[in-house]
Amino acid sequence: MALLLKNAHVVDPSVELDGVVDVLIGGDKIAEVGENLAVEGAEVRDLSGKYLVPGLVDMHVHLREPGYEVKEDIESGTRAAAKGGFTGVCAMPNTDPVTDNGTVVEFVKSRAAEVGHCRVYPSGAMTRGLKGEAMSEMGDMVAHGAVAFTDDGRGVQGAGMLRRCMDYGKMFGKVFMSHCQDEDLVGHGQINEGKVSTRLALEGWPAAGEELQIARDIEIAKLTGAKLHIQHISTAHGLEIVRAGKAAGVRVTCEATPHHMFLTENDLDETYNTSLKVNPPLRTDEDAEAIRQGVIDGTVDVIVTDHAPHTPWEKAREFELAPFGMIGLETSLSLVLTELVNTGKMSVGRMVELMAIKPREILGLDQVQVKAGSVADLTVFDPTVTWTVGEDGYESRAENSGFAGRTLTGRATDVFVGGKQTLADGCIC
Ligand code: DOR
Ligand code: ZN
Repeated sequence: MALLLKNAHVVDPSVELDGVVDVLIGGDKIAEVGENLAVEGAEVRDLSGKYLVPGLVDMHVHLREPGYEVKEDIESGTRAAAKGGFTGVCAMPNTDPVTDNGTVVEFVKSRAAEVGHCRVYPSGAMTRGLKGEAMSEMGDMVAHGAVAFTDDGRGVQGAGMLRRCMDYGKMFGKVFMSHCQDEDLVGHGQINEGKVSTRLALEGWPAAGEELQIARDIEIAKLTGAKLHIQHISTAHGLEIVRAGKAAGVRVTCEATPHHMFLTENDLDETYNTSLKVNPPLRTDEDAEAIRQGVIDGTVDVIVTDHAPHTPWEKAREFELAPFGMIGLETSLSLVLTELVNTGKMSVGRMVELMAIKPREILGLDQVQVKAGSVADLTVFDPTVTWTVGEDGYESRAENSGFAGRTLTGRATDVFVGGKQTLADGCIC
């Protein structure tokens, strides 16, 4: 049956749409967009007071399957994605076995088709076993549907290795996504190196440990002509380096997480909250401010979560022994609405660019547009609803949110993937 979505405020800068219109879904596509649509026999949903935008895509998510299902699996991770308003996620390859060949890519895809609550776009490792020693089966992975290459969780330590990966792999036209961390310089760094790490007697993770590899990777992208995407950028100077790379014509883009924008090292205290232990670490107030500005002014291309679920017992260990990472799928949209959109610092249109248009562009996915003929991957949110993170638990198997207890305004209410509803009135379908 056709589904008529009425009275939503539709925002899609790619078709210059910003106003109240109706959207008719027929099958997996948008059949019609227009004012006062009336269709006999269609199921009607009134979305007055809500926004409707092209489906959000999170291009940096750890679904943990295969291998670490105790932390999260494809079913629970994509359920968290739907709850957060996403119609698709790019899955990171630091699984067990590592996603470094076509068979694992195929497994992730088939599992997602079976149990997923959103689309899953697998990324493949750049190097075998994420060891940085030998190239992965890049062609095989692309043939099976990998959308990008990354050793996320680690950076490729050898510049020569990265160059070989890019020189060989660029023929597939996919983006190379860099987790920038010089392991020799960072060592066992736990949190940002500075006054807070000194006060809390935790080993420092210096900003330069990230910035060195951002600069290096941009040089290697220039050398090879490969497409580079800097993952979870966290420092003001790192952003300056990316800005300069873009100005020089290098094919480089970058992403930022809500936790690097809306939390800082100053949120760490003597309680040693391990949910705030992330890689790269929470930085200074000045860094977070620069990242927020970069998001607004366009230097940052994409907002991602780096959704990194871990078990309660892993996160209950001593700070030095707890793993890096926090979950983010269920709070990302709400945080961006609360901190940037509702405060008037950024438009809904810019948010759509950052969370729907650019991620698809960088990953080489077909765009979703709110116009007749487009695939009906759509996100609907209520900008006014107020809720507290964690009060009703999480759809994710994990609970390691650094934002637990924060009151947010705005939340996804309805999500459609290929015309099929995955979230209805805030409930998983
Ligand atoms: O905090 C993080 N957690 N950063 C990463 O790069 C990896 C991720 C994980 O896999 O847990
Ligand atoms: Zn990473």
